[in-house]
Order: sequence, then C-alpha cells, then structure tokens
Amino acid sequence: MDIFVIRGGTPLVGSIALAGAKNVALKALVASLLTDEPLILSGVPLIRDVALMGELLAGLGRKVIFNEHTVRIERDGKDSFQVPLELGARLRTSSMVLGPLLARRGEAIIPNPGGCRIGARPIDRHIEGLVKMGADISYHSEDGYFHARAKKLTGVTYEFPKNTHTGTETLILAAVLAEGTTVLRNAAQEIEIDDLIALLNSMGAQITRSDTREITIKGVPSLHGGAYSIMPDRNEEVTFAIAAAVTGGRITITNSQHEHLEAFLDAFRKAGGTAEVEGATTTYASGGALTAVDVTTAPHPGFMTDWQAPWAVLMTQAKGSATIHEAVFESRFSYVPELKKMGADISFFDPPVENPEVFYNYNWSDRVPGFHPAIRIAGPTHLHNAVVNITDLRAGATLVLAALAAQGESYVHGIEHLDRGYEAFETRLSQLGAQLKRINEE
Ligand code: EPU
Repeated sequence: MDIFVIRGGTPLVGSIALAGAKNVALKALVASLLTDEPLILSGVPLIRDVALMGELLAGLGRKVIFNEHTVRIERDGKDSFQVPLELGARLRTSSMVLGPLLARRGEAIIPNPGGCRIGARPIDRHIEGLVKMGADISYHSEDGYFHARAKKLTGVTYEFPKNTHTGTETLILAAVLAEGTTVLRNAAQEIEIDDLIALLNSMGAQITRSDTREITIKGVPSLHGGAYSIMPDRNEEVTFAIAAAVTGGRITITNSQHEHLEAFLDAFRKAGGTAEVEGATTTYASGGALTAVDVTTAPHPGFMTDWQAPWAVLMTQAKGSATIHEAVFESRFSYVPELKKMGADISFFDPPVENPEVFYNYNWSDRVPGFHPAIRIAGPTHLHNAVVNITDLRAGATLVLAALAAQGESYVHGIEHLDRGYEAFETRLSQLGAQLKRINEE
C-alpha cells in the first residue's frame, strides 16, 4: 500500500487545470453500452474508478482503448450481461449498467454496488423506477446479486421520493431506448447530469430538462456513436481553492467551473477567501484572516456534500465557531477523528430539525443509531503533524489539505481512496509547491 509523506507549511502557488469530471466520465463510459458504434470520449480523468469502469465494460463485451485522456470504446462481439461480484463491489457506479443492459439485452445480473463507504448508499430509488418501466428485479442474498429482466422497457412518469443524482442518471440511461416517453419528476439538478444528457443527445437521444426538476426522455429505437468532450471537475476546483486558502497561497484554475460553484463561492467569500474570476480562470487565496461560516449540505444548487469535508479544514483556520450540518449522507464525517489528531477542535452535535424524515436526503430508516449529523469547529487552531488514515475520497483530500497546512511531517495512509477520484494528485500538488511524496510501504 502507498502512503503520502507530507511536509506542511509551504504556501501553494501557481496555475493548474482541472481534470475531467469523474462523476460524468463514469456515466459516459456506461453510455457506450447503448450503441454498437464506436464512442470517443475526451477529457477523461486518469483515475482508478475510470480504470475499473474500463475493466467492467471489457467484461461486458467492449474494447476500451485509452490514449492519454481520450478513450475509444467499441463493441468486440463478446456480449455479456453479468458484472462480476469482485469488480462491481469496488465501484458504486457499476449498477448504472442496469438500464443499458435491460434495454438492449433484456437481462442484467449485477452485484450490490460498492464504492466509497459513506453510509448505506442503497439503490432503492433506482430499482423502483426501473420496475415501473417494466423490469423485474430481485436481490438474491445467497449470491449477492441483483437479477433483472425486462421483455421491454416502457416510458413512464416517475417521481423520485427524494433527490438522487445517480438514480436520475440510471433512469435516463434506461429510458433513452425505452418504448414511449419517460418523465422524471423531482429529478436531480446536478450539472454533471446535464453533461451526460448532452452526450446522449449527441448520440441521437431525445432528452430535455423540461423544468428545473423535471426531465423528459422520448425513447428512440437506437443510438449512434460519436465523440464528446467531458466537462472539467468542479469538485477538484473546490479542493484546490481550499488548498490555496489554508496554506496562505494563491492558486489559479485555468478552466474554472465558477458558474457551477455559486454556493461554494458565496460561503468562501463570506469566510474571507478571495476568488477573482477573469474569463475562464479563477484565482483563489485566503485574503487574510478567515472567519467562521456555517454550512448545511444539500443537493445542487446547494452547498454540496462533497465540499463539506475540505470546508472543515478551512474552518479550523477561521476565527469563531463554525457548524457543518450533513443532510445528504447519513455518515460522512470519517475524517473528524483524524483531523482531531492534528489538533483540530471539533465536536459532534444534533441540530434541531422539524421533519427529519423529509429534511434528510437519505432514507430516515438508514440513520445510524448514535450518529450525529453535525459538527462544530472552533478556530483558529494550529494544526500539527500526525499519522492519519483515509476512508473515503473527499475525506482523503481533506486530510491531505490539513497536512499541507500543518506544521511538521505527516503520514497519510489509505491513499488508494484518493487514487479513485483525483488524477495524479501528488504530482499536481507538487507543481504548486507542495512538499509531498508517495512511498510504498510493504
Ligand atoms: N439514496 C437512497 N436510495 C437511493 C439513492 C440514494 O437512500 O436509491 C440516498 C443515498 O444513500 C444518499 C442520498 O440518498 O444518502 C443521496 O444520494 P445520491 O443518489 O444523490 O448520491 P449518489 O448518486 O450515490 C453522487 C455522486 C457523489 C455525490 C452525490 C451528491 C457519483 C458517482 N457520485 O452520489 O459523489 O456526493 O451524488 O451529489 O456521481 C464522490 O464523488 O466522491 C461522490 C461520493
């Protein structure tokens, strides 16, 4: 297993380009199953989740050819409809092949999806929608697989009981080739979904966002191949913005996604950070003394759950008491004990919530007994070196940022979680002046 050895205290300064969005690339790769013609995707981030998705597609009869950030996917004639347990369990998005496989093969066998361990992460909303479209899906606990069949998928009107980003995409990927029109109500608004829609429309699909939270998909008999360039990763931008602020540095993002980061920019500026937008670039810095700002996570266009972990590091450097209320996932504070090892002053609490069953985005029945949905951070604190362990992707970025801001040499274990979603993270941070190296600790 590799670890990072990080010497903190150096301001990060310079320019950097965002990699392609992980949360589009994975679904764009799944979209290749909807056509027999070659699909060429550019701007694909070179991360482990993408490599795993490539393996998964190869197992389903696709040839996946990488040429740096461009990937060509073509049919190689060995069609299959089963995702192996070991592979599916390592990749949350593995279940998204359900739609294309049901639409084109009438059958799919997929394991319970894995990925980041940030709560129970069930797919009940995805399954409910697919069943409404005519699929017969059952979970076989004896082998750990979902077994799905559909003679044909039929367009329906389906209203999601609560927001789901990949659930919305899963149903879009199923509905494009269904017979008739599908209307998805209470559909998620994440802009990554609109990038996937643009890709599918470029392949001949007929999808429109008919209202802010409504998507209409007119089924078509077939899709063709083509070429598409994936949008840059706005979650990376947040990571680099906070890296600049907590190290007292200044980082320019050359392909900034600032127009999709309103909630973040609002909170960042309130906290005293500066974000200077100039055309396609945004330059981030701390702007002097930082002050505490409370955030509550929410689906887009709110303050995204992916940003709260790095936000916690920023708040350790801000004056006052800041709260973070996590409303999307039922357990996404795995970084808290690790940040405390570095000297952060953080305590858990239960904010009063009137209708928790409705307010929280997760299924209320999945809440973890004794778990608290919010933290309070007292700052500013002087962070010092520690040996810390990463347990999920954004928590990982958070601990790296904390180590970069801390005094002394820190050891970060579990960086395979970071490799899942950040391309060449250490190389890019080093280019900005960070003192960190990856070492292999057998
Ligand atoms: N949920 C259910 N049942 C469902 C679907 C969702 O209970 O059928 C719950 C989830 O467990 C969660 C909440 O509803 O508590 C919201 O889940 P959502 O489906 O919106 O999240 P996701 O699709 O699983 C995607 C991203 C996440 C990102 C969230 C929020 C991908 C591959 N993942 O997850 O990204 O945090 O949306 O925008 O697109 C990451 O990049 O590290 C990451 C975790």
